[in-house]
Amino acid sequence: IRKIIIDTDPGQDDAVAILLALASPELDVLAITAVAGNVPLSLTEKNARKICELAGKPNTKVFAGAIRPMVRTLVTAENVHGKTGLDGPDLAEPTMPLQDGHAVDYIVETLMREEAGSVTLCALGPLTNIAMALVREPRIAPRIREIVLMGGGFFEGGNVTPAAEFNIYVDPHAAEVVLKSGIPVVMVPLDCTHQALTTAARVAAFRALGTRPGIAVAEMLEFFERFDESKYGTDGGPLHDPCVIAYLLDPTLFSGRHINVTVETASELTMGMTVADWWGVTAREKNVQYLRDVNHEAFFGLLVERIGRL
Ligand code: BDR
Ligand code: CA
Repeated sequence: IRKIIIDTDPGQDDAVAILLALASPELDVLAITAVAGNVPLSLTEKNARKICELAGKPNTKVFAGAIRPMVRTLVTAENVHGKTGLDGPDLAEPTMPLQDGHAVDYIVETLMREEAGSVTLCALGPLTNIAMALVREPRIAPRIREIVLMGGGFFEGGNVTPAAEFNIYVDPHAAEVVLKSGIPVVMVPLDCTHQALTTAARVAAFRALGTRPGIAVAEMLEFFERFDESKYGTDGGPLHDPCVIAYLLDPTLFSGRHINVTVETASELTMGMTVADWWGVTAREKNVQYLRDVNHEAFFGLLVERIGRL
């Protein structure tokens, strides 16, 4: 069983990723740490709790973290995710508690307490909490097994500016801390997630599960895809964040390369752009396992099977 902390800004696709993790016996979700991103923190922490209750796992620990990025002002994405961040299904207000204490403290304390190399961080939103933890207690860096994150875009360009993907754009300084930390990073960028489309047939498969989580996933995806579908003209929109959890469950679904990635933090035009040294033209060390392709048929097969277990 692999111990993970999910750092997230739910978000419909974050929500599906959380459901996938909670449904999977291979993973031990130590806690969910919320961060400001798709919507402000007061909503992301509440949405995380709604999803735990939807999964029938109200004992999951949920912590609230950073209310804003390290340097820049918060940019949110209600245009994609709706006013609540989780528009679509009608989910009850959560009754499970938010844990006392700050998410950054929880991350530091947990990594210092657990056996070195045993905890994986799954990052589904801006990297603020994780970077703040690294700044606060640098000794956690060698104790982290790996960081698997959804963020960045290379051949696909950006989805919030022409150059940048949302999670990296919102807190590029945090992304820089993570990428320079020396911790093994697996990066699931838009290049990969744009292959995982929530087609009408796939949404129907979730609804056909007939369970509350299955139907809620269908409703979330129908809301979430509206934005991308109209914009990109595809059948369905990309399902980004669950790719992170699917990678942990079955890395053979993905293929990619080991490269160096840096992030732009100075120029407004390309702020948050992820830059890969494809051809080894710098002396910079390879710091990222970049995932280029996903077997999307198998990915959705896994997802439907697991959501069906809840
Ligand atoms: C990322 O941004 C958010 O809107 C999604 O939840 C995902 O994590 C995609 O760029
Ligand atoms: Ca997210």
